[in-house]
Amino acid sequence: MNSTKARLTERVRAAVVTYGAAAKRDPYRLHYHLTPLVGLLNDPNGFVQYRGEYHLFYQWNPFITEHGSKFWGHWTSMDLVNWRAKPVALAPDEWYDKNGCYSGSAVEHEGKLILFYTGNVRDEQGGRETYQCMAISEDGIRFRKHGPVIHLPQGYTPHFRDPKVWRKDGSWYMVVGAQSRELQGQAVLFRSSNLRDWTYLGPIAGSGLQCLGEFGYMWECPDLFRLNGRGVLIVCPQGLEPEGDRYHNLYQSGYFLGDLEEEVAKFDHGPFDELDRGFDFYAPQTTLDNRGRRLLFGWMGLPDGEEHHPTVAHHWIHAMTLPRELRVSKGRLIQRPVEELCQLRRNEVVHSRTEICGKGVALEGVDGEALEIEVDLLENRSETFAIDFRGAACLIYDRRDGRLMLERTAWKDGKKERRFCRIDRLARLRIFLDASSIEIFVNEGEEVFTSRFYPDVDNRSIAFSAPEGITVDLKKWELASVPIPGDPV
Ligand code: FRU
Repeated sequence: MNSTKARLTERVRAAVVTYGAAAKRDPYRLHYHLTPLVGLLNDPNGFVQYRGEYHLFYQWNPFITEHGSKFWGHWTSMDLVNWRAKPVALAPDEWYDKNGCYSGSAVEHEGKLILFYTGNVRDEQGGRETYQCMAISEDGIRFRKHGPVIHLPQGYTPHFRDPKVWRKDGSWYMVVGAQSRELQGQAVLFRSSNLRDWTYLGPIAGSGLQCLGEFGYMWECPDLFRLNGRGVLIVCPQGLEPEGDRYHNLYQSGYFLGDLEEEVAKFDHGPFDELDRGFDFYAPQTTLDNRGRRLLFGWMGLPDGEEHHPTVAHHWIHAMTLPRELRVSKGRLIQRPVEELCQLRRNEVVHSRTEICGKGVALEGVDGEALEIEVDLLENRSETFAIDFRGAACLIYDRRDGRLMLERTAWKDGKKERRFCRIDRLARLRIFLDASSIEIFVNEGEEVFTSRFYPDVDNRSIAFSAPEGITVDLKKWELASVPIPGDPV
């Protein structure tokens, strides 16, 4: 361990010891979502299954609840539900990453776990350099840095980051988020035969390319893969203006479907669509597991108004979403919570063929703060159907125009804020509530709303409204708390 790493590791330990107890006492602490004990979490990184075990790394500022020189925190799991904390995998301790080991990915090769990440370097004048770097582990726990493998190609600004690596027909490919010198966001492709020497192939999608028009000044966190016969590019463009119901968050996170030919650096794609309709979803990353599933974790947050989150008083902020399984069906990406999450269910409450008529209706046994609710809408005679969550978030469906809306009380100023999408018909909802988060899967994952929310801690009510009446099948489970044992240092 170099001396900078030793010093940083000691500081991380001190932060965990100093603030850990206060963080644990926070009533908004999540019960079954992944979050480090203290500090700021952002992007999921290096999501991979290695020697049968899932590894998930995360962007982490252990010292304060603000962005800064990021570390890679590390968790492992056999089942995507029960996780263990592992020691910090990467610390910003070398000249090429001294201002942050930024986002990246992991692959298994010849029994080793290999990470690719962006080394972020700032100078006193606010200038920036970025390097795509490699680190190798023989055991999946301790990583040895091998330094930069890619320097900035011509034609790009140093906003060049977040390498995602995969293998296809004996070659390695890497897609990187980029900004061209003309300030256009792009996803850029490289190829390698040995993971160390990389050839620049060019942009495969971007603002101003393939009839896309102006589409953001920077694209972050690209992820490119094949699923159900289609090419999928997930990417996070920055700089899109709101357009009708879309693009109301600070930055966007969405996907293109298309035909992917890595060998010739080609991805003919259709239009962009948002992955999630909620307030807090960004920088997702996927992996293919050894059951052939394409799995996704997202950051349940955005770099926006972070100082207002009440959790910062308890020295922590942000969390991962629940893990989701992806599919392409009828020209869209479908997202469902992974089936392993069912093991969290406790104390089932069932309401079969239940009539709800009126406003603010409570159902026996349907309340709480860590729960899952599954609702099948059997007969909907009502123009609107709403579910209020603990007085601080509300899902409202308007049958007349097919608009589905999530409304929450903003913690910045107490005002109501809203996000929307449209669906043909509302048939089913699966809702995961945690102490300060909500994830709503609509119609088997056709749409998802992911958000944080901060209700009065004593308010555990769930209230249904259907003025003209609705008949539902409803099930509710309490969800078990999942501690994260192990030492993150
Ligand atoms: C996305 C992002 C990435 C970058 C990382 C730094 O949230 O800005 O582009 O690598 O966060 O923490």
